[in-house]
Amino acid sequence: MKSGTTWMQELAWLLLNNLDFDKANKSHTVRRCPHIEHSVIRNNLHVDSISVCDQMQDNPRFIKSHLPAQLLPRQIWENKRKIIYVARNPKDVVISSFYFLTKLNLWQGNMDDYIDEFITDRIYYASYWSNVLDFYRMRNESNVFFVTFEEMKQDLKDVIERLSRFLDCKVLSEMEVDMLVKHLSFDQMKENQFNNPTSLIRAAFEAKEDFNFMRRGIVGSYRDELSSEQISKLDRWTQEYLQEYGLNESDIFGNIK
Ligand code: A3P
Repeated sequence: MKSGTTWMQELAWLLLNNLDFDKANKSHTVRRCPHIEHSVIRNNLHVDSISVCDQMQDNPRFIKSHLPAQLLPRQIWENKRKIIYVARNPKDVVISSFYFLTKLNLWQGNMDDYIDEFITDRIYYASYWSNVLDFYRMRNESNVFFVTFEEMKQDLKDVIERLSRFLDCKVLSEMEVDMLVKHLSFDQMKENQFNNPTSLIRAAFEAKEDFNFMRRGIVGSYRDELSSEQISKLDRWTQEYLQEYGLNESDIFGNIK
């Protein structure tokens, strides 16, 4: 969650739909790729999101989920369905999710309180690290495409090329890749009412005036948004969690500049 899911949804949907920009510019990303557990986390939703996914006519179906591996539908594993997993470094996820929840009045408290909730697994889709690590450890499986927000920011063209091979899509021309990169830029997606779900979310929640789903979209927002104590606390938690697996945060996310 808050790791670039919507960004990836737009990219993968376009690859799976022969770069149909016309349709992409007429219907919401989040509608073209439904969120399977949506009605579980939003109990006032008047549609059953599982039925929505069940009744989709698209072939292949393209479905969003933030669920940890063990809670995904069993058939995904039995039938070896393709999984695209997007991870983002935890400090930027903390910031992005804090503002998302705060501006929607779904969380009351300050950043220190939120960090404590985050590292003690009292957040949506917890635990952050076990969710990421389960998929990181499956990253070499033929049906798993594990990618990070940081890689998408650093070299989106490379991600497009690798994802397109993973999804068995046609080889794209240079011009098509350029069109995709432009369509997927932060500024363009922010301005596009069908890519940026701000108004849809506003209609569903009592959002604060300054809520915007597309907030900064950068790597390393923690540098100017968290105190050195908050950064150290999160880094200590990460080190303690990852040492059991012989990993460092940079093994997964690279050196964040
Ligand atoms: P910020 O809150 O840091 O701005 P998700 O879709 O998983 O909820 O992730 C939302 C995060 O992805 C937000 O991060 C949002 O701005 C960022 N995002 C969405 N589209 C993006 C794009 N085209 N480029 C960069 N970041 C993007």
